[in-house]
Amino acid sequence: MQHLVDTYDLSDEQIAMIFADAKSFKEQKPKKLLKDKLLFTLFFENSTRTRSSFEVAAKRLGATVVHLDPSHSSTNKGESLHDTFENLCAMDPDGVIIRHEYNNTPRKLADRELTCVINAGAGNYAHPTQALLDYFTMLEHFDGELEGKTIAIVGDIVSSRVASSGIRLFTRLGMRVVLVAPEPFMPDNNLEKYEKLEEIIDEVDVVMSLRAQLERHKAPIFEDYDQYAKEYCINHERIGDRNILVLHPGPVMRNIDISDEMLNDTRCKVLEQVRNGVYIRMAVLKALLLGI
Ligand code: CP
Repeated sequence: MQHLVDTYDLSDEQIAMIFADAKSFKEQKPKKLLKDKLLFTLFFENSTRTRSSFEVAAKRLGATVVHLDPSHSSTNKGESLHDTFENLCAMDPDGVIIRHEYNNTPRKLADRELTCVINAGAGNYAHPTQALLDYFTMLEHFDGELEGKTIAIVGDIVSSRVASSGIRLFTRLGMRVVLVAPEPFMPDNNLEKYEKLEEIIDEVDVVMSLRAQLERHKAPIFEDYDQYAKEYCINHERIGDRNILVLHPGPVMRNIDISDEMLNDTRCKVLEQVRNGVYIRMAVLKALLLGI
């Protein structure tokens, strides 16, 4: 049984196939390849994009999707996550798509080998389908050639599962990843690090801006996010006329992460990322549930 806890669960061949399938799903309406499949979505944290994107992807391929809202489930009567999961698995689904605050929850559930577990975001550790859709969006923009391109990840990197999964996938596939953040937002790893985007901007092909994840900070890190924005907001002044692709996984904090004007700039692909997310998740579901 194959799971997707992070992109290391996928072979290089599977990753290439996912990008090829996503491209073909985008070009022409897909067949109902998953018409006999049943999926549960189980989101213990809020989501706009990932949950709806998975559900749209599954339905476009003909699968049945049942959403269990944890706030109205028996979790509220004291049932453990493991019991909730086991009970869902007793209904014989083909997969459970889960988002959870703890880094290791998807792995622990996957290790029970009861059904295919797909990680839709866990703690600050992994968000594999976001990494795949981000890479796919860059791949489309650069006509399939990303080897050696430089991506600067800017913002609250230490709190970000998007950054963690992205760093693992992008470096594996030959990109140069540099990190730009104030000290409290910088993780401890061996990548190139900069305090200011201006120090590296002329070497950058892609900027990925991240939201300051206030809900994950145990205590406020900055008193004043307007001051933070003066240094880190991605705007025209900072990017200039450079041919740089601007990405953000969402939700965007307007004029803190990215300015209103930059969100309307053709170099900013935030909504294209969302569009591509559906095709990538269709391709991921096909790979995991049909084994092809
Ligand atoms: N990118 C992302 O994970 O967005 P949501 O939290 O809205 O799913």
